[in-house]
Amino acid sequence: MARISASVYTSHVPAIGAAIDHGKTGEDYWKPVFAGYDFSKQWMKDNKPDVIFLVYNDHATAFSLELIPTFAIGTAAQFKPADEGYGARPVPTVIGHPELASHIAQSVIQDDFDLTIVNRMDVDHGLTVPLSLMCGQPEAWPCPVIPFAVNVVQYPVPSGRRCFQLGQAIRRAVESYDEPLNVQIWGTGGMSHQLQGARAGLINAPWDNAFLDRLIADPAGQSEVPHVEYVREAGSEGIELVMWLIARGAMSDVAGGPAPMVRHRFYHVPASNTAVGHLILENG
Ligand code: DHB
Ligand code: FE
Repeated sequence: MARISASVYTSHVPAIGAAIDHGKTGEDYWKPVFAGYDFSKQWMKDNKPDVIFLVYNDHATAFSLELIPTFAIGTAAQFKPADEGYGARPVPTVIGHPELASHIAQSVIQDDFDLTIVNRMDVDHGLTVPLSLMCGQPEAWPCPVIPFAVNVVQYPVPSGRRCFQLGQAIRRAVESYDEPLNVQIWGTGGMSHQLQGARAGLINAPWDNAFLDRLIADPAGQSEVPHVEYVREAGSEGIELVMWLIARGAMSDVAGGPAPMVRHRFYHVPASNTAVGHLILENG
């Protein structure tokens, strides 16, 4: 049986990708951001998974107002880094895991979560920046990655509760896969930020840190928090944080296992317009 060994949570700020790609990580502005991931890069080497199930949001790159899947699973053999207007990032092509992805689609859809199946898709900063933060600049990503895109851009977006329940269904799906694969699940996006309108530039550090506390200790309670609180307290793009509940819902304590170990926690303001948050939780 496959199992989920750990969950990783991180912001996905596009300027972080640009700083890496243009050799600016040593600049004073960026140093403290990347310092927060030194532990994580070593941890990735020491805890290399067989597959990463990467929950992220597409930013009108692969999808648009013409087609808005709430939950979309990438079942292809590979996914190219997208051109988001400045050319594609110079990062490796993402190798998928069509067998596990198809199994998860089968299991989760039979478990009453309707997923969109995606056999061709370019992946934007929502997916590639977390990989860069955790893996650095390798020739190839360390393992296959299953992209799982969530609509948090165009309302109606899924509730925290639905995301948390979906995470539980994903854990059941992984655990019913025959091969003994070590799977990590990543939840990405956030933390507080707002890119437009009168409140552009909003950051709410106390709220972000309370979110991290509660995600660790009381994810079921956090999953009941309505959208309006995310938007009011963490800004219009703070809603990306509901995706973290998918990864958290897949941890074994939610199904009665021991509490996860907090291996790493990091918070920093600012990176571009965003508060950066990061957690690594290992299943006990
Ligand atoms: C920024 C953050 C995001 O999450 C994003 O998708 C785009 C831009 C920013 O901080 O500029
Ligand atoms: Fe984003």
